[in-house]
Amino acid sequence: MTQSTFHVAIIMDGNGRWALARGRPREWGHRRGAEAVRRVVEAAPGLGIRTLTLYAFSSDNWLRPAREVTLVMRLLQRYLRRECEELSENGVRLRVVGRRDRLPPEVVAAIDHAESATASRARMTLRLAIDYSSRYALLEAVRTAARAGTSDVQRADVAELLGQAVHSDGPSPDVDLMIRTGGEQRLSDFLLWECAYAELHFTPTMWPDFTAEDLASALQEFAGRERRFGTVALAG
Ligand code: FPP
Repeated sequence: MTQSTFHVAIIMDGNGRWALARGRPREWGHRRGAEAVRRVVEAAPGLGIRTLTLYAFSSDNWLRPAREVTLVMRLLQRYLRRECEELSENGVRLRVVGRRDRLPPEVVAAIDHAESATASRARMTLRLAIDYSSRYALLEAVRTAARAGTSDVQRADVAELLGQAVHSDGPSPDVDLMIRTGGEQRLSDFLLWECAYAELHFTPTMWPDFTAEDLASALQEFAGRERRFGTVALAG
């Protein structure tokens, strides 16, 4: 891992439970979750993160009640429209990864706008995963290779095809640290290929309560881990 590729991914879990515990509807938790997104995105470049991927809406989230889906889509659209300028000022390039063929047209338009408005920024890449499924991306990659009749598929080809399947502008760097808030300990179809050697960090903190300090302490804990990538510790 070098500073130039340091990739953190976050599964932002716990919005619904956070709200219900306060006697409010789940949607309230998502609104407060959007504020946590702002805090974390603002702090991330200063903490040395070069790529930050946030799981905003999984392909399985379409199965939630229509009212909740509509609210999350609206929050995403608003975020993409309103935060563009600030992201740009902070040197953040925004990319959305996932399927686009099932999103409301106004969300797709907001994505196009935000991606082009921040395209030249290079301090950090923020990737929002929307209608994202890692298995879908892998299936699409396999299908594309099969259609092309390519039998000699290399690792770099898979990474490239995965990028194409989710509208990324190139292959994703490997994830160095995967954080999941909300107390659950699973990957939920997120970046399965990219997490081959990711370190995992699970915290009981619900996403709306997650702060820049929580992110900094997760990174500090990560810095103390020994990453061996399948080999043995090197002496000296
Ligand atoms: C998981 O909490 C969260 C989601 C499925 C949606 C994530 C959305 C946001 C953080 C807000 C909008 C995002 C942006 C980028 C502005 P959950 O509902 O599964 O919580 P639960 O496990 O407590 O039910």
